[in-house]
Order: sequence, then C-alpha cells, then structure tokens
Amino acid sequence: MRSIPEMALGSTGKDIPLVGMGTAVYPFAPSEAMIDSILTAIELEKPLGETIKKAVELGLIKSRNELFITSKLWWSDAHHDRVLPALQNTLKNLQLDYLDLYLIHWPVSLKPGKYELPVNKDDLLPIDLGSVWKAMEDCQKLGLTKAIGVNNFSCKKLEELLQTASILPAVNQVGSERGLFVKVEMNPLWQQKKLREFCAEKGIHITAYSPLGAKGTLWGTDRVMECEVLKEIARETGKSIAQVCLRWVYEQGVSLLVKSFNKERIKQNLEIFDWELSAQDLEKIIQIPQFKGFPGVEFVCQTGPYKSLVDLWDGEI
Ligand code: A2P
Repeated sequence: MRSIPEMALGSTGKDIPLVGMGTAVYPFAPSEAMIDSILTAIELEKPLGETIKKAVELGLIKSRNELFITSKLWWSDAHHDRVLPALQNTLKNLQLDYLDLYLIHWPVSLKPGKYELPVNKDDLLPIDLGSVWKAMEDCQKLGLTKAIGVNNFSCKKLEELLQTASILPAVNQVGSERGLFVKVEMNPLWQQKKLREFCAEKGIHITAYSPLGAKGTLWGTDRVMECEVLKEIARETGKSIAQVCLRWVYEQGVSLLVKSFNKERIKQNLEIFDWELSAQDLEKIIQIPQFKGFPGVEFVCQTGPYKSLVDLWDGEI
C-alpha cells in the first residue's frame, strides 16, 4: 500500500499524516440505548489503548512514536482546572505518556461532571477561552501533548484565540513559530472556503472531519454520499464517491480524518494519492450548493452562550 503523505509540524519535531483514521462511532456503544446514557470517553479510549499496545507487541509498529494520536477535551472539562486531569485521564485510558495533539472540542463549556448526550441545554455555559487555552498550553509545556488546537471554531473565534494565546504551537506550513491546529467539518458540501483562506493567511493547519458527511452518525448527513454531482464525477473517473470526496479534501492542502471500520473501505480510502481531479471536476464541485451536516443546534438556546446558529458560527454558516 502506498504510504500516506505527511506534513512537517514546526515545533513538535513530528510529521502529521495527511490522512488519519477517525474512531468515533455513534451510538457510542453497540446498543441504541446508549444515546441516553453516559458518554464516556473511556468506552472509546480503552480499546484504542489496547490496540496500540497490541500493535507494538505484534511488531506492526516499533513504538507508539510511529503513530499520530489526537484526542479532545470534552465540553464539561472545558474549565481551567479540569483540563489537566481530563488529559491525564485520557492518557491513562490510552495507556500513553503523551498525545500528539489535544483539541478543545467545541467553543462551549458544560457544567462540570456532565457527560450526557444529547446535552441538557441548561448545562451549557460560555467557554472562558483565555483560561482554558492557558491550561491547554500548560499541558503542552508538561509534555503531555506535543501540540494543541481547537475544533469547530469560526474565523472570528480563531482570531480571538490568536489574540489571547501566548504560545501557538504546532503546525507550521510557512516556517514561522506561530501555528495552530483547527479541526472542522469539511467536505464537498461544506467547503469552508472562508476558513481555508483565513487559516492559510495565519499559518493555521486545518484537519477535515466528516469528509464523507459522517453518514449514520448523530453529527452526520447522507447528502454527501448521495450528491448527484459527486456520483457523476465518480462514474466518470472510475473512482468511488468516497474517493472523490477524500481526494477533493486532500487537494485543498488540509489533512483529513476518515472513519471506516471496514477493511476494504479503509484500503479504498487510502487509494487517493496517485490520481487527481480534473479542472472541470473541481469546477463542478465548487458549484455544489453548500449544506452543513452538523450545524450544532445542540449548542443553541436562549439561556446558553449562543442564542442562534449565527451566534455560534459568527455568521459563517
Ligand atoms: P464504515 O465504517 O462502515 O465504512 P466520515 O469519515 O465522513 O465520518 O464518514 C464515516 C462514514 O462513512 C461511516 O459510516 C463509514 O462506514 C462510511 N465510509 C467510510 N469509508 C467509506 C467508503 N469508502 N465508502 C462508503 N462509505 C464509507
């Protein structure tokens, strides 16, 4: 199998693979009943920890150092004093000494101790970005994560972060010491043009999640995989719709996370490096009407920090 292209990270001394594997599934456990039960990162993290250990034992990798492992700070832990314990807990579950990247999950906090999904909107709180980011920086200084970043931030919120942060470690495509990671929904139906331009200017590295629209999950839509334009391009190029999506995302110069637990599809999803989309295909994709699969209505309520989706995304929706 062709190896995955990588991009150098400025301060971490490590490269980020441009295609990564998402592991989040929904419901979080095999049973539908889990929807109302406690979301615990443990359920996802513990098997991952075991898998990494096994991969080393089997000699598939020499050490954990060959992997690029990312995790996220859960909303109810997005409080200054809870960040370090949350990361320590994640590391314990994963049986690791450090992460490669730790991300703030949403620009929102929840009352401490709340792990339910869907969230109770009464538990929503504004995030104190300055102090939470400071705690993230402290985690990095302690060596518990090589890099830090954020998920689901608008350009405006990224701008705010750039102004308050003292160190902005991580990626560096342009050679300056300032750099930051942002992970956002991105696929041909939600192209993130403005955010991509903003991030290119600021030297912020984008990782795309839901590159296939995350069909079948709480945060997903089947509109990406059902898109007629993409189907037509797939027919004409002899590729699958998934490959067309992934290739398009890859061609935008970002890294991506694609989730599949199916061996054939995992293999197929990596076969995107030795061909390219034509100028006509790219033009057709640009013209696709935009639709955000996960707007985040969960975070919107009259008593919470965001009264509307426009507030949540600062109009960038
Ligand atoms: P599965 O795990 O059964 O392969 P995303 O990466 O946007 O979050 O999308 C993940 C969803 O897309 C999962 O339901 C996954 O199912 C499915 N998927 C992943 N790769 C492919 C593929 N090559 N073709 C079709 N569906 C895919």
